[in-house]
Amino acid sequence: MAKSKVRTVFFCSNCGAQSPKWVGRCPVCGEWNTYTEEVVERDPKESLWRKERTAGIFEAAKSQPVLVRDIQSRPVARWDMGDAELNRVLGGGLVPGSFVLVGGEPGIGKSTLMLQVALQMPGEHKILYVSGEESAEQIKMRAERLGLTGSPCYILTETCIDDIFTQAAQLQPDILVADSIQTLHATTIEASAGSISQIKECAAQLQRFAKESGTSVFVIGHITKDGNLAGPKLLEHIVDTVLHFEGDRHYGYRILRSVKNRFGSTNEIGIYEMQDKGLREVSNPSEILLSQREEQLSGTAIAATVEGLRPMMVEVQALVSPTAYSVPQRSATGFDLRRLNMLLAVLEKRCGAKLGNKDVFLNIAGGLRVDDPALDLAVVAAVLSSGQDLPLNPKTAFAAEVGLTGEIRPVSRLDQRLSEAGKLGFGRIFVSRYGIKEVQKKYQGMIVPVATLFELFQKIKGD
Ligand code: TYD
Ligand code: MG
Repeated sequence: MAKSKVRTVFFCSNCGAQSPKWVGRCPVCGEWNTYTEEVVERDPKESLWRKERTAGIFEAAKSQPVLVRDIQSRPVARWDMGDAELNRVLGGGLVPGSFVLVGGEPGIGKSTLMLQVALQMPGEHKILYVSGEESAEQIKMRAERLGLTGSPCYILTETCIDDIFTQAAQLQPDILVADSIQTLHATTIEASAGSISQIKECAAQLQRFAKESGTSVFVIGHITKDGNLAGPKLLEHIVDTVLHFEGDRHYGYRILRSVKNRFGSTNEIGIYEMQDKGLREVSNPSEILLSQREEQLSGTAIAATVEGLRPMMVEVQALVSPTAYSVPQRSATGFDLRRLNMLLAVLEKRCGAKLGNKDVFLNIAGGLRVDDPALDLAVVAAVLSSGQDLPLNPKTAFAAEVGLTGEIRPVSRLDQRLSEAGKLGFGRIFVSRYGIKEVQKKYQGMIVPVATLFELFQKIKGD
């Protein structure tokens, strides 16, 4: 009997590794129960990345080995995207021919961001916005809502990647936006759109298209909260740049974070506010992150943080209250819970704070997640302030890391933090006693050096 032509392969939905049979534990990433079966037509042993269908459209030049010193390098001309936040996150504008993945939870505003950028891009760049999620009318409605309808941006509602390439070959756009990778499918693969083999194949074809035609490609990908839904995670190594669009849906603020960038620094962030007429760039983040209020209450402390190269003053709020249960509750919004538990343990051990029968809630104002060790000192100060019901001086800020022995450790870019704090009217900044040589003169009278948590406690009491 002839063998069936349909072949199936098992893919790990976490890392994308493949196997001819089901395995319980992925030998590549070690995750359990992540293998799913998918139908692929071709022999899986052959590379899935070479496709005859598109080869005719964009002929690749045969490459030869070249000596490094013989390679001509040209300064990369970057394109202004007409959006200061996006330019910054991309490392100073878009590199032509680059392949960018914009990931984020559904509903966070990825389509809005990309459509807005496509519609307001300065210059005469031809843009093709391919949507597999919305109809042309829906996109037009969104464009009207954004108040932008006049730019040379073409809309194509299509999900078949081969047809998209046929259209792109005719139109020859400078930028192609594909919304989203989960809706695209290549006809060479049997599996349904959104499956791992389709996502991999479509991404590989888009990458080839970007490199061979010089078109910059933006791909939108949905990820869930834990970030491991099949798709964007396993694309990270294919693309040049990975941007994460994140934020708390209950607040209007959104952060565009660069997690990988072949053409610039990572950890750059762009901040936006979602309004009824689209996303507004937030050029001065400190103003939104500090809540305005007249009287100073206990439990709030201001941290002088830096994200990427951007200084921001962030308000940390803590609530310490007697627990009604046998096991006290600990909860953190916008801050790592394990880190909070560690800081509480350090406070108990080194400062004698009695927190074993107290609930502790921590909140970073504005609903943003800031990854900066310099938040530690403000967290500790906020917890102490709430525990002792002792309001802190509103003109005081904090910037230091806390170690396991209760020592206060220095943090990077102190100069930038101090200058931002000074600009916003903070008169005193608690910093580590160590590593302040360079800034001591410039910020004399402003910095309050502390070496241990105990010292911090004594000083904020008398502040
Ligand atoms: P959307 O871009 O569709 O999200 P994604 O593509 O990431 O799934 O945006 C979804 C939300 O944005 C939607 O709930 C409505 C809101 N929104 C505004 O608040 N203002 C606006 O101007 C637009 C266009 C959308
Ligand atoms: Mg969308």
